[in-house]
Amino acid sequence: MQDIVKIVQQMTLEEKAALVTGASAWTTTPIERLGAPELFMADGPHGVRRVPDVHALGGASLPATCFPTAALLAATWNADLLHIMGQALAAEALALGVGVLLGPGVNMKRSPLCGRNFEYFSEDPYLAGELAASLIEGIQSRGVGASLKHFAANNQEYQRFGIDARVDERTLREIYLPAFERAVKRAQPWTVMCAYNKLNGDYCSEHYELLTEILRQEWGFEGFVVSDWGAVHDRVKALQGGLDLEMPGPKPYRTHQVIESVRAGELDAAVLNEAARRVLTIALRAAEAPKSSAFDADADHTLARQVAAEGMVLLKNDGILPLLNPSRVAVIGRAAQEPHFQGGGSSHINPTRVAIPFDEIKKRAGNAVLTYSEGYPVGDDMQQPLIDAAVQTARDADVALLFVALPASKESEGYDRTDLDLTAQQVALIKAVSAVQPRTVVILHNSSAVAMVEWIDGVAAVLEAWLMGQAGGGAIADILYGVVNPSGKLAETFPLRLEDTPAFINFPGEHGQVRYGEGLFIGYRYYDAKQAPVLFPFGYGLSYTTFAYHNARVSASSFRDVEGVTVSVDVTNTGVVAGKEIVQIYVHDRQCKFVRPQKELKGFAKVELQPGETKTVSVELDFRAFAFWHPGHKQWVAEDGDFDILIGASSADIRATASVALHATRTLPSLLNAASTVREWIEDPRGRAVSAGLFQQMMTQMSANFGGDSDASTGMDMMGFIMELPMASLLGFQEAALPAPAEMIVADLLRQVHQA
Ligand code: BGC
Repeated sequence: MQDIVKIVQQMTLEEKAALVTGASAWTTTPIERLGAPELFMADGPHGVRRVPDVHALGGASLPATCFPTAALLAATWNADLLHIMGQALAAEALALGVGVLLGPGVNMKRSPLCGRNFEYFSEDPYLAGELAASLIEGIQSRGVGASLKHFAANNQEYQRFGIDARVDERTLREIYLPAFERAVKRAQPWTVMCAYNKLNGDYCSEHYELLTEILRQEWGFEGFVVSDWGAVHDRVKALQGGLDLEMPGPKPYRTHQVIESVRAGELDAAVLNEAARRVLTIALRAAEAPKSSAFDADADHTLARQVAAEGMVLLKNDGILPLLNPSRVAVIGRAAQEPHFQGGGSSHINPTRVAIPFDEIKKRAGNAVLTYSEGYPVGDDMQQPLIDAAVQTARDADVALLFVALPASKESEGYDRTDLDLTAQQVALIKAVSAVQPRTVVILHNSSAVAMVEWIDGVAAVLEAWLMGQAGGGAIADILYGVVNPSGKLAETFPLRLEDTPAFINFPGEHGQVRYGEGLFIGYRYYDAKQAPVLFPFGYGLSYTTFAYHNARVSASSFRDVEGVTVSVDVTNTGVVAGKEIVQIYVHDRQCKFVRPQKELKGFAKVELQPGETKTVSVELDFRAFAFWHPGHKQWVAEDGDFDILIGASSADIRATASVALHATRTLPSLLNAASTVREWIEDPRGRAVSAGLFQQMMTQMSANFGGDSDASTGMDMMGFIMELPMASLLGFQEAALPAPAEMIVADLLRQVHQA
């Protein structure tokens, strides 16, 4: 690697300003006289969208494999498989001349309504972070960079370019940042893409705390920060905040602004030098990647099919699946012929080929007679004749396979959904078909939860096939006919109704602001806390076999927080076919000063088991698995005490529990201050020690003031009242009995506390 700092030193101010602004829709500015190459970036998260004309944002892109979208990837819970998919994505990127892939996106699925949920992994930050890290490691192991996006709190499309997400500190740290943190610390993506929106008042593109303090200083991010396309408002502020590269370009006026600001002394030249160094570092790194002119489209299609099959989730099965070679199969729903396998917007891929579900089913169906009926139109209008025809087709068959895809008008990048419903026609279709054909299997294509209460009882099985990528049609056939045993589990809760969802009353905000009022409690954290019923819980998915969990154990009954523990459990395949089980490890804090979710996912493993086979699953839990973010201490804290470790087949199906005691090794400074309440003084060990005598004296005095029985004369529990008084106020009420003014006494006590 060349001496990058030296190259930057040789650059003129104009060259540096040009380097930190795109030269086209997808490329950076090369500085040829210094050997600085151009860097080519392209979407995206699940395939390479390489637009031939670098100045065009859209239009037909070069053919590339459309792998399954993140919604499905997350449901695989298979980090190794995602690593392999990352390698394949990179090979395609290299063949298409792309140096950085713009993805993956790890924003939380705060509400199932977010139009871009298909590009996001989960409602759980641990799961999203681990899977994204593996995907990034896979991509980058082949010399192509990833761009982790959209940093941060980009959880809706409504007013996507400017909505101000108001998120409290703990929620940000515990829910909206950890997936980014994990991916950055584990996989060190070459680039991070800032979000369009504001976070707590500032545009993410200018957010110093986010882009510099947290991302670089705390997490150690070494790459460059790129703007989301068009996310920069004030170019100079963005550079100062920590945003290195503005995209897309060219933007001569912005370049000029940067130059002028440095000349005028408004922008520190060192900030520009550093941004130029970061962009150049990655451009040079990308230029070192092995050259390639082709990728193996067949192999990638096969891989896309394998991934798709691992992430589809069997939600209901009354025993009809796997199909036992029915001789007359009705295939209903236009998605069987025109599969809905990807989402609209910047991640839209021009696939190398597309597996048509109808054709794939035909291949698996042997001599069976297949009939097809369209069922519903392209859009979301009602067309009763299509339903009538489908009913006829279903009635004459042994089984109906009903493919239902949410239309793009209901779900896409750019806008949010307004309800959880399928179209009225689709609901009517499912009801009508299942009324005449109880052996109806519904296959769903959507990116996030849909409502099913209206129709699910009438159908025999439901397969959630997501936006499954170009090869998904084959994966569906494999699962329906038992060639593949389904092993996906939900990475998000499926609620009963939209009204039940955590963000319901705060989504999507108004007057340019959205309050994350549900705080830490998104997804299963919310339903757990409310003890509210759901349609399908987080982590849920059926298999054609069964698994038994036994012999759950922890490596130690107590541990020091700096050490961590290992949780193990034996899992046996108790059925007659091979299968894969996803073992989930949740942690429950028995007691904490702060409100905490009932349980949080802190580990998982996917194991493959032959019938009768047993394997031991072991998962390491470190300090962070037990910690919460303490806004007062501005750091992660795990309190001394007992924790339960819940080992589950889903968040609602805990199969074994173990407990462990944590010993905190760090002593934290006292947070007592002049406004602290009596309760806080009593709960603080040092506060209690220095104030105990005085407090006792105050209580005696108080009691005397109220004629010996303050509870009786006030009609309330006096102690309860006192606990919420600031210590200074308690003293102040009885200042006559004190040797000095209350605030001076409190100041003295505080000195003692903070000296201790
Ligand atoms: C999207 C990004 C994408 C970029 C480039 C933006 O509109 O938000 O996710 O990478 O366009 O296409």
